[in-house]
Amino acid sequence: MLETNNLKPMALGCWLFEPSAWQGPSRTTLLRMMDRALELGIRHFDTASDYGRGESEKLLGEFLKGKRERVFLASKANPREVSAKSTLEHVNESLERLNTDVIDLYYIHWPRRGKDMRPVMEGLVKAKEAGKIRGIGVSNFSLTNMQEVSEVGKIDVHQLGYNFFWRLAEDEVIPYCQAKGIEVVTYSSIAQGILTGKFAQKLNLPASDQRNGIVFFQEDVWPYIYGATEELKGLAESINQPLVHLAIRWVIHQQGIHTAIVGAKNEAQMEMNAAALEADIPETIFEQMTEISNRVAKHIPKLSNMYDYNP
Ligand SMILES: NC(=O)c1ccc[n+]([C@@H]2O[C@H](COP(=O)([O-])OP(=O)(O)OC[C@H]3O[C@@H](n4cnc5c(N)ncnc54)[C@H](OP(=O)(O)O)[C@@H]3O)[C@@H](O)[C@H]2O)c1
Repeated sequence: MLETNNLKPMALGCWLFEPSAWQGPSRTTLLRMMDRALELGIRHFDTASDYGRGESEKLLGEFLKGKRERVFLASKANPREVSAKSTLEHVNESLERLNTDVIDLYYIHWPRRGKDMRPVMEGLVKAKEAGKIRGIGVSNFSLTNMQEVSEVGKIDVHQLGYNFFWRLAEDEVIPYCQAKGIEVVTYSSIAQGILTGKFAQKLNLPASDQRNGIVFFQEDVWPYIYGATEELKGLAESINQPLVHLAIRWVIHQQGIHTAIVGAKNEAQMEMNAAALEADIPETIFEQMTEISNRVAKHIPKLSNMYDYNP
């Protein structure tokens, strides 16, 4: 599905394109950053109807004018009701906000606790048959969730949380995807910025920063994350590369992973992240990284996802 589109194994995450985040990057900065992504060959853009209650899709829609065919467009929805009708309504609303006739990949954003998601899958199958979407994705699904919806239609892609510190999907979900020919796309691939090495030992995030809720920043977990990040910095320095290059490439290097989504807030971040794809990283560095990752894993609580979010 993604491979047939000749895409690089990196996508631009557009979660932060929402009014609350615009206290940081302006619309102009974000539009310029998206242009830079395309110049650098990063064509896969990932958004969702929930990001900024549609504002991310709208900004992307503005960006896409005259450039639609250059972008591989992925979006997602959490339908108001678990029904095919509601799902189709969401697809139509996304199409309108994105200012396009077709979305390349559309995901069910989250499974709903205790609900059978097959009706939502039916909606996506209908949307695909009607030519409104080209590919069907699920996101944050368990093995059982995937098996259930697969009875209704073929899953093309699974988008899941995965990075150097969060490898839960390796147990069941990624092996299932490999067995069934489902491509895996990772989110929070640089642990929301931790894997750039920019956070100090003593955390000082503003109360409004949504990162406060992530498991890695819990008081009893952060010392281990910080320690491992310092070790990684040493490895990165030994080959004269920024840490973020190692972090992105380690993800793409793992079995069964096709694409790492990475969020960026400005051109400089975009340029640095895209350069990871060209970086020369010896196999021994990946091996040493995995050894550190294995060691720190036992200090990270086993939650269903790194935000402990269960809608
Ligand atoms: N399916 C889902 O449920 C789901 C969930 C989460 C995310 N996603 C998708 O995945 C995308 C990325 O995930 P994410 O935003 O959680 O995390 P991420 O990609 O791991 O981290 C992105 C953040 O790291 C910082 N950063 C990025 N590049 C940097 C650089 N070169 N130097 C320094 N800082 C840098 C930026 O924030 P600061 O500058 O503020 O530090 C940026 O917002 C989202 O935009 C969204 O498309 C999907």
